Amino acid sequence: MRRLFSTACAILAAGVMPAFADTDLRAAAQDFFEPIPLSPPSLDGNIVSRTRVDLGAMLFFDPRMSRSGLFSCQSCHNVGLGGDDGLETSVGHGWQRGPRNAPTVFNAVFNIAQFWDGRAADLAEQAQGPVQAGVEMNNTPDRVIATLESMPGYVDAFAAAFPGEDMPITFDNFALAIESFEATLITPNARFDQFLQGADSLTEEELRGLAAFMDEGCVACHAGVNLGGQEYYPFGLVERPGADILPVGDRGRFAITQTVTDDYVFRASPLRNIELTAPYFHSGTVWSLEEAVAVMGTAQLGADLDERDVSDIVAFLRTLTGEQPEVVHPILPVRTDATPLPET
Ligand code: HEM
Ligand code: HEM
Repeated sequence: MRRLFSTACAILAAGVMPAFADTDLRAAAQDFFEPIPLSPPSLDGNIVSRTRVDLGAMLFFDPRMSRSGLFSCQSCHNVGLGGDDGLETSVGHGWQRGPRNAPTVFNAVFNIAQFWDGRAADLAEQAQGPVQAGVEMNNTPDRVIATLESMPGYVDAFAAAFPGEDMPITFDNFALAIESFEATLITPNARFDQFLQGADSLTEEELRGLAAFMDEGCVACHAGVNLGGQEYYPFGLVERPGADILPVGDRGRFAITQTVTDDYVFRASPLRNIELTAPYFHSGTVWSLEEAVAVMGTAQLGADLDERDVSDIVAFLRTLTGEQPEVVHPILPVRTDATPLPET
């Protein structure tokens, strides 16, 4: 897939896009995209076992993992809302508003790295962040461990999920269990995936949108299983959007690498289930998918897409909505007198 990306980027850089619409559209699409698999992928240094997934689900839904007892992962990554919170930027501890829009956790397991700027290598590394972030859950690893150790329900669940370990309740295992659960949050069988697998599941308009998505060059950055989530690019490669969409204070990967070429560089967003996860961009300031597509045209491609191209592409993007994971809200362990009390 890396080779395809470089090819696509070379094509984009040369400014010559082949007319995919004139060739066999399905074959061309199969070169760039892959369907979401029906079952979770295997993980580096972790397993997706039933006990670990069940524990991860408990931790994901438990607001007591936050200092206030109010915020869980579900608060900002609602599994009934496409894995997202539907807010411009998330609201966390003490009603504080964070600086960025919450990306979906659905299919995040397929992204090359986590966060808009890719600063966490994988889901396990990522999961340790929000619990400690002052604007999110504002907790400490020690307080999380004390909370977990205080409840026999968690002691048993960690022992079952990490069999043979002397001290199963650790902050690392907390993150591994969440990663296992998140690996199950995948959305297979979208109509686009059915098309990739040979079915005639797309309408004329959606097929035109797919052809435009490839012809116009979106595919150079949004390819692979998640149609994005694999590489980093300047937001505003051709023309920088206004500060309402691209706030000047958030310079993306520059904050991590301190390298000039990383100024305003962000991960090309994964586009799976995109119709469910408005508002768009890391600033979360664009609510309409049509507008987001038009912004991408001017900002990334220097192309003033006409109304029909935009609506065709949006029709295509809506075919990326897959089967949503059916998650049963777990019953959470009962507190004891040793459980730390909520703090504001
Ligand atoms: C990013 C999971 C709690 C808001 C992410 C990502 C994942 C994730 C996997 C990266 C997705 C991607 O890059 O595609 C979790 C888990 C949580 C949790 C497992 C609980 C332990 C929260 C809470 C909030 C929140 C409580 C809101 C108060 C955000 C935001 C981002 C993010 C704003 C993007 C941050 C950035 O890119 O700088 N989360 N999250 N998350 N999450 Fe959460
Ligand atoms: C974000 C679609 C071309 C790089 C997005 C988003 C959409 C989108 C809908 C917002 C996703 C979200 O907020 O969850 C498209 C379409 C394109 C196109 C339809 C063609 C017309 C490109 C190209 C590049 C690119 C050619 C790379 C040169 C990015 C990046 C982001 C993004 C870096 C994240 C922006 C941010 O930080 O907020 N794209 N895209 N896109 N796309 Fe594209």
